[in-house]
Amino acid sequence: MKKKLRLGLIGSGFMGKTHVFGFAAAERVFDLPCDVELATIADVTLAQAEAARAAFGFARATDDWRSLVADPDIDVIDITAPNALHKEMALAAIAAGKHVYCEKPLAPLASDAREMADAAEKAGVRTQVGFNYLCNPMLGLAREMIAGGELGDIRGYRGLHAEDYMADPAAPFTFRHDPAGGGVLADLGSHALATAEFLVGPITRVMGDCVTVIASRPDGKGGVRTVETDDIGRAFLRFENGATGSIEGNWVATGRKMQHDFEVYGTKGALAFSQERFNELHFYSTGDAKGRQGFRRIEAGPDHVPYGRFCVAPGHQLGFNDLKAIEVAGYLDAIAGLRPEPFNFRAGLRIQTLVETIQTSSRNGAWLAV
Ligand SMILES: NC(=O)c1ccc[n+]([C@@H]2O[C@H](COP(=O)([O-])OP(=O)(O)OC[C@H]3O[C@@H](n4cnc5c(N)ncnc54)[C@H](O)[C@@H]3O)[C@@H](O)[C@H]2O)c1
Repeated sequence: MKKKLRLGLIGSGFMGKTHVFGFAAAERVFDLPCDVELATIADVTLAQAEAARAAFGFARATDDWRSLVADPDIDVIDITAPNALHKEMALAAIAAGKHVYCEKPLAPLASDAREMADAAEKAGVRTQVGFNYLCNPMLGLAREMIAGGELGDIRGYRGLHAEDYMADPAAPFTFRHDPAGGGVLADLGSHALATAEFLVGPITRVMGDCVTVIASRPDGKGGVRTVETDDIGRAFLRFENGATGSIEGNWVATGRKMQHDFEVYGTKGALAFSQERFNELHFYSTGDAKGRQGFRRIEAGPDHVPYGRFCVAPGHQLGFNDLKAIEVAGYLDAIAGLRPEPFNFRAGLRIQTLVETIQTSSRNGAWLAV
């Protein structure tokens, strides 16, 4: 009989639902080392928590995340609440000896993220940060092709994560605009930075340019709030392997809904990817015959692990929630000691450090070492 892992989920919004999808699908698609019990869900009000309990299939609901975190009948705390709450929730969970799964960005400040990573390591609990785009089998393929030398020496990288959910000035001020750690570079640029390092390796120097495009927004209570955080965050990058590059986080990119894209250029070939068609990777090889050269489209299929877990047929495509299921499966294997943590709090701290270094560089107008 498999060990049972009792889950306590905090937050039932966009990501709360995605995490429930992830746990539900992972259990059916992978050979997990444990059974996951959807034990308790917490939200701000009991009505919200109760509605989510009924919809998602949890046993209990609460409006008090502190009691959830202290509950001895919970093994894993999963945090999908707003960024500013991550630190307090995670530290309380770690102090209670729980494993902690936390959405990105790990914390509003790198100093907070460091405290969280240190506490988790000291307590010996397993952690995971939600950088689900890295779980796409096509990103795994891209990384394998780069590491295996199929592109030759990497010269250039371009990455971006652009959406348009803040393009309308009438879109209200949210936790994403919080002066303490909000802004697009932390929200979306963090994904672009995680992908850049996943593919090309460590970034050593950055030159940032972060701008606020919409200076004030409705506060949702009839008033207006000044926005201090960035709407567009860009950086030039230098990588340890000598490559140069850039990333952009942008939530005012009119018309874009999910443009988590990258291009990698090497001496022997290039790769191009768009999250808008994320079951495809485009590969250009300089080794192809003259007159036959061009980007070829590689479609995701069972050869790209773990696609075959979801579907035996190539080209039938995975979806956004499937990436969460892959992330969940990797994390549960790590909790069972079968593999290292795929993207733990220390890795989350690294991304937060990059974000802050870029923000400081933008304020100072200078290149900075990371
Ligand atoms: N990995 C990804 O692809 C991805 C995508 C979107 C959001 N996120 C991250 O997920 C987190 C949540 O974002 P979201 O879009 O789901 O937001 P959301 O507003 O849709 O959901 C947040 C939930 O937390 C609840 N909450 C707020 N305060 C709480 C408290 N004190 N106690 C309990 N619950 C509380 C809210 O009521 C809501 O249900 C953020 O950190 C965000 O950066 C990650």
